[in-house]
Amino acid sequence: MRVIAVDGPAASGKSSTAQAVARRLGWGHLDSGALYRAITLATLDNIGDGAGGRGTGEEWSPQRILALAEDLPVRLVLVQDVFRPEVAGVGVDEAIRSERVTRRVSEVAAIPEVRRWVNARQREAARDHPVGVVVDGRDIGTVVFPDAPLKIFLTAGPEERARRRLAQRGERTSPDELRREADALAARDRADSSRPVAPLKPAADALLLDTTALSLDEQVARVVALARERFPG
Ligand code: CDP
Repeated sequence: MRVIAVDGPAASGKSSTAQAVARRLGWGHLDSGALYRAITLATLDNIGDGAGGRGTGEEWSPQRILALAEDLPVRLVLVQDVFRPEVAGVGVDEAIRSERVTRRVSEVAAIPEVRRWVNARQREAARDHPVGVVVDGRDIGTVVFPDAPLKIFLTAGPEERARRRLAQRGERTSPDELRREADALAARDRADSSRPVAPLKPAADALLLDTTALSLDEQVARVVALARERFPG
């Protein structure tokens, strides 16, 4: 099985690392969070904020959300070795990073039926890729691909993660904004770690990599070296 699992908390550098590793190896890259984000976007746009009478639209139900994902559809499309999220045939790379999606994604990702659907899409993508896939998320090594030959769990200090996330958005980083971002990341980590289904945690056989003091190039080089050992030839 040619799968590399890269898990870790919000803004630990999973996606940038997974994407760069995939490019270096000539493998595909699948960001599972992008699929949860795309379903969240589709839900907000088509059902509303789920607050019933107090908000817009109807209340959220797993059946409604899954029917949307199937019918619109929400899917991953392989473009030059990157699985890109689409909703109803439109690429949503940018829209899924918006604040309103980020605020609600952990709620959608806590729904067991949604997780089953997303996991099936990931396994299909991996099965259909001709070479191999680097998949990043929260439960890739524990639930989605428990037999992946290489599992990495990335961590980084909360302030460093907040700094990276703001830098990624090109925003200036006042101490206030940094604190707010660190709080938002911590809240999402708490939600992702404490949910009953597929909580964020390292697989027993995952290699832990603390990237607080590493550059992106350094962390990519380490994972590529491990991959070359684990997948010779
Ligand atoms: O990139 P960032 O760390 O902001 O998050 P992401 O990877 O885009 O994932 C967004 C959200 O999707 C997470 O906060 C989780 O709630 C959920 N997720 C999950 O539950 N399982 C995964 N395998 C990937 C993401």
